[in-house]
Amino acid sequence: MILFTEKELKEINEKILLYYEENGRSLPWRDQGDFYSVWLSEIMSQQTRMEVVVDYYLRFKEALPEIEDLAQVEEGRLLKLWEGLGYYNRARNLKKAAQVLVNSPGPLPSTYEDLMALPGIGPYTAAAILSMVYHKPYVALDGNLIRVFTRLLAYEGDVGTAQSKRDLEDFGLSIIGQDPSSFNQGLMDLASAICRPKGQALCGDCPLKDFCQAYKKDQVEDFPVKAKKKPRKVVHRSLFLLTKRGRLAFRKRPKKGLLAGQWEIPGLDQALTLEDAKRILLERDIFYEEIQEGPSYKHIFSHVEWRIQSYLVDLKDLPLVRDSAGEERYFSSREIQEEVAVPSAFSPLVDFWMEREEKNEGRL
Ligand code: ADE
Repeated sequence: MILFTEKELKEINEKILLYYEENGRSLPWRDQGDFYSVWLSEIMSQQTRMEVVVDYYLRFKEALPEIEDLAQVEEGRLLKLWEGLGYYNRARNLKKAAQVLVNSPGPLPSTYEDLMALPGIGPYTAAAILSMVYHKPYVALDGNLIRVFTRLLAYEGDVGTAQSKRDLEDFGLSIIGQDPSSFNQGLMDLASAICRPKGQALCGDCPLKDFCQAYKKDQVEDFPVKAKKKPRKVVHRSLFLLTKRGRLAFRKRPKKGLLAGQWEIPGLDQALTLEDAKRILLERDIFYEEIQEGPSYKHIFSHVEWRIQSYLVDLKDLPLVRDSAGEERYFSSREIQEEVAVPSAFSPLVDFWMEREEKNEGRL
């Protein structure tokens, strides 16, 4: 798979470093380059656009300036700082890892094995930290670098396989020089500004175009090659906005699986008509003044799609909270805003309920 001479590999590295110097984005953790800043920003930027990450990152660092603060933060506050970023296990793992770091004597981990032993750190994050904090020659192979490398090589393999990851990492290592941090971050910036996905590549502006095999063959859009994914599983859900006296019912999700341990709007994994919904509430001794249809929408996760239908239920009274473990609770608008990290799958419902509450208050 060796397509380039030593001289060309060196030139590719130089072009990437020059691109970074001249066009690199100004991002707050880049100036700092310390362990906590790089680690936090890398975890935040997984599955999230960089423009969004910057605000969250600054707010998080202001609230929890040191790893010690993160290790001690109360879970509700942590999830509130993460609200809107999704994939909340990332935040929980950050805290767990911070506790490990705070309780381990000696310096922060600086080898691949020690980093991989921390909760929430996989090959990508380990490589990012090693290159950006310790300037060690590791390739931070994320979707961005995969796109650039597969295009440079016109690499035909399915990028979902372990073999492809090894091939592309080896290719990266054959280019990487004395500045692995700028190499990885330069490639990330080039990938998001120029070597872009889905018909948006700006090859005319690319400093690597003379080397790019896909560009030469006019096949840039054919790379990376990805095997077709299984279609997402569709789950129909009927959710109940159970409300009384300015409060809305939430329940904790199971400790494992999708949105593990987070607050949700209660409901069933079934499509229910309004008549079904009335029957089910009465079977459970949930007595209402009024019930009407609320918003219906789709929410897409990586492997599952929820088709949500909601019912707004004005209760006769607050039913007794059935469990004493605090797994079900009624929150006021103010509490929701200040204390509850509402997963985005439920935001349309909570927003809808809050708007109605505001109108009701206006009328009173
Ligand atoms: N995406 C993830 N980490 C990044 C970084 N450090 N710079 C640019 N894009 C990124």
